[in-house]
Amino acid sequence: MEKFTTKRSLFDKIDSILEKHNWNKNNLLAILLESQSNIPQNYIPEEVAKYISIKLNIPSSKVYDVITFFSALNDKPKGKHVIQLCKSTTCRLNKYQKIREILERELGIKMGETTGDGEFSLEYTACFGACDISPAFRIDDKVYGNLNETKIIEIINSYRRINHE
Ligand code: FES
Repeated sequence: MEKFTTKRSLFDKIDSILEKHNWNKNNLLAILLESQSNIPQNYIPEEVAKYISIKLNIPSSKVYDVITFFSALNDKPKGKHVIQLCKSTTCRLNKYQKIREILERELGIKMGETTGDGEFSLEYTACFGACDISPAFRIDDKVYGNLNETKIIEIINSYRRINHE
């Protein structure tokens, strides 16, 4: 998908997304998700949040409530792929800490950080229902479980290959 790098083209695109959703504030979540997918670094910049709040005639605090509530929305720049490691009960019992160590070592970043090339962000998440294949993480919307070192390296390398094709 084409990402918009100039302000003019970005705000034209936001207008078209608002238009598609009938400038309806009840569609705020869908508007934000679609806007984010069109913005480099996969997040909603402050100026975009304000723009949408003005155009929909709602307080910007309401826009931020939605951004902070939904884990798929980001208010800070993120990598092209977001790796979310579960640290809820079953994954804790199955030693998610070991998975964290492998991910941090392979990517060269700590939890909460983004790789220097902008390809991966690493963060924790709560249980997403994959307890039967715990320990587990998600990359974007795809779930991976029964993780071990070999499998993690294979998964990361498969994304690196995709990114360089
Ligand atoms: S506890 Fe980790 S996926 Fe459920």
